[in-house]
Amino acid sequence: MVRSFLSPLLVVALAACARDVPGSPPPFDVRPAMAAVREDAAQIARHLDSAALADAILPARRLAELRLAPGLAAPPGFRELEQDFRAVAADLANALEAEDGAAAARSLDGLLARCAACHARFRPGGAAGR
Ligand code: HEC
Repeated sequence: MVRSFLSPLLVVALAACARDVPGSPPPFDVRPAMAAVREDAAQIARHLDSAALADAILPARRLAELRLAPGLAAPPGFRELEQDFRAVAADLANALEAEDGAAAARSLDGLLARCAACHARFRPGGAAGR
């Protein structure tokens, strides 16, 4: 008797917890976008490494415009992390345009920290991935 009404409650409670567990993905698929994000970040790193700052501007500007599943509702905190990521990518692009390699390198570090921050919260398996 007690069990029969408790267990549906338990199911609801566990489902509610599951939404707050770090590493729960948003209710849309960001993986195709992430392949492009990774490629842009890798290009930027390569160009910085070879001091070809101007070549890194375009991928940095693309990252500064990143919109993941625009118009769809995202879990709490997700849009803030996305917005923060865009802001750092814009700083990076500005540093590249100013031909300030040291500032660009600092911004790239900041950008990669933003990848990890979002992954820690919203990627299944956390920042280390699946
Ligand atoms: C605002 C959130 C957010 C930011 C910022 C972000 N990611 Fe992701 N990323 C995700 C989520 C969520 C997943 C997990 C998607 C899934 O498995 O459903 C993911 C997964 C990935 C994957 C695996 C994709 C796959 O096919 O499994 C790669 C690679 C990746 N991100 C690269 C990056 C890189 C590189 C950056 C920074 C330059 C970055 N991401 C920034 C949210 C973000």
